[in-house]
Amino acid sequence: MCGIVGYIGNRQAAPLLLAGLEKLEYRGYDSAGIAVLENGAVEVVKCKGRLSALAERLGKTDFGSTLGIGHTRWATHGEPNDLNSHPHISRSGKIAVVHNGIIENYIELKRFLIARGYSFISETDTEVIAHLIEYHYKGDLRKAVTAAMTDIEGSYALGVICSEQNDMFVAARKDSPLIAGIGGNEYFIASDIPAILEHTRDIYILEDKEIAVISRSGAEIFDIYGGKVVKEVFRVNWDIDAAEKSGYEHFMIKEICEEPKVVRDTISPRIRGGDISLDGTGITAESIREIDKIFIVACGTAYHAGVIGKYVIEKLARIPVETELASEFRYRDPMVGPKTLVIVISQSGETLDTMMALKESKRRGARVLSIVNVVGSSIARESDNVLYTQAGPEIAVASTKAYNAQLSAIYLIALKLAQLKGTVSGENFRNIVDNLLALPKAIEKVLGNRSDVQKYASLHYNAKSIFFIGRGLDYALSMEGSLKLKEISYIHSEAYAGGELKHGTIALIEEGTLVVCPMTQLGLREKMTGNIREVKARGAVVLAVVPESCALAEGLADHIVRIPDIDPLVAPVVAATVMQLFAYYVAVLKGCDVDKPRNLAKSVTVE
Ligand code: AGP
Repeated sequence: MCGIVGYIGNRQAAPLLLAGLEKLEYRGYDSAGIAVLENGAVEVVKCKGRLSALAERLGKTDFGSTLGIGHTRWATHGEPNDLNSHPHISRSGKIAVVHNGIIENYIELKRFLIARGYSFISETDTEVIAHLIEYHYKGDLRKAVTAAMTDIEGSYALGVICSEQNDMFVAARKDSPLIAGIGGNEYFIASDIPAILEHTRDIYILEDKEIAVISRSGAEIFDIYGGKVVKEVFRVNWDIDAAEKSGYEHFMIKEICEEPKVVRDTISPRIRGGDISLDGTGITAESIREIDKIFIVACGTAYHAGVIGKYVIEKLARIPVETELASEFRYRDPMVGPKTLVIVISQSGETLDTMMALKESKRRGARVLSIVNVVGSSIARESDNVLYTQAGPEIAVASTKAYNAQLSAIYLIALKLAQLKGTVSGENFRNIVDNLLALPKAIEKVLGNRSDVQKYASLHYNAKSIFFIGRGLDYALSMEGSLKLKEISYIHSEAYAGGELKHGTIALIEEGTLVVCPMTQLGLREKMTGNIREVKARGAVVLAVVPESCALAEGLADHIVRIPDIDPLVAPVVAATVMQLFAYYVAVLKGCDVDKPRNLAKSVTVE
């Protein structure tokens, strides 16, 4: 996610802003910048790259300003470059804005502003906010920000300065975190506590749609209606290391807990008026008319997302889909040509095996659409089209929120393909859209009950081997559940199709073997009860993951984790969170280095 800092007080702002941004580097970023009020004007220094590049540019200035805002950008809209970096300024140059979040209706707002004479120099959604605040500005910055908030749809944490207001600045939030720091005669805003912890441990935590006016005499909080909000000061007692994880013990559990927001940010902006907008993906009625086959190619967790994609695209769009490991794809003379759509999935956008498979696909004349999390990454740049997931930076080596975001992206693609081919429409289309929009709340519910998963993990963290079995989408999900467990707990694990176990591998099931059984697929659950009986008969202990209304596992499975009822087609996105939590708690109980597992790298840029 992006990082925001702001300062007003008696000290020089620029060095404090830079230092605050350095404490937010863990959030991941690709560019940075600051804006200060200097001699009655807004001065902006910003650039692509690391904070050292920004520091070098700042070194050539001698800003005496004691008021400013700063930003580290994790690109969501627009390549990482100087122009797209924050802060963004308004048409007159008198207002500067930094933003963390996603403006879902930025295209409509951009059209509204262009029709009123505003012009844009960046590809970002944030630039819209700067012009919109100016459009509403009549001398009161807080009111202008409040008015802009009523126009905006989406998530935001904002810092706003104005050259006409040199004794205050404004901050506001909705869905993206923001705090106000109460120092001794100096006041701060920040996306996260580490940025200001060395200056103060007293903070206000802004709630959604609250606006903060930060002046030289303090911080006042207002609601969207202009009413004053009385806030308790929160005293931070974290140490610095804990603060970087926002109080979570590990980045992995923090990122799992971000999944509702990540799924919402990936899906919601692309569902407008009940229809799916896949602008930028090259998926049009025209472009898919000639497609007679789809290949999904990736590695590891991204590959497992692709296997889910195969089931979902074939079920909805009735287009044949083949999934292949990138490292295999390249060397097997793949049957790919001009009538093939190759979908490449990669969180980092830098995985060499995946990149080489991409190039092989293009060499054979196929069109390549990539699902990538890192804007402007090598795979994104090499693809014909890109659908960016909105997972934000994933720090833990084991991929969690990015996987859920990849699934979300795949469902959007599958449904769009089906709509364009006419294989899904009307009531069925609307039902799937509604269920996609219901995913964040369903995942929140799973997260709310995660102590159940922790309890079962505590019973089995010494297991020598753990099996995951499922059918249909649950089999594809089991692949990811098994990998997650292996890569952070080092426990041997295998994923098997429930119906395949009896063809050999069941020989490995013995007294006490733990078998995890996701049972989210209607029509396959009865079959799965047969598989559960099979393994139980050989002494297995069964952990079933089932929808709330499903009673099939009662009296059969030893442990049951329930997920909210949701359309089985999208249920894997919710059940995935259970699998990730199970792996996480087992690994923690085993004392493993959860965020940096042995032998693994976050991005595998070697063959
Ligand atoms: C994820 O938990 C693994 N660390 C790994 O399998 C990863 O998914 C794989 O290396 C692909 O990475 P990418 O998505 O960045 O291409």
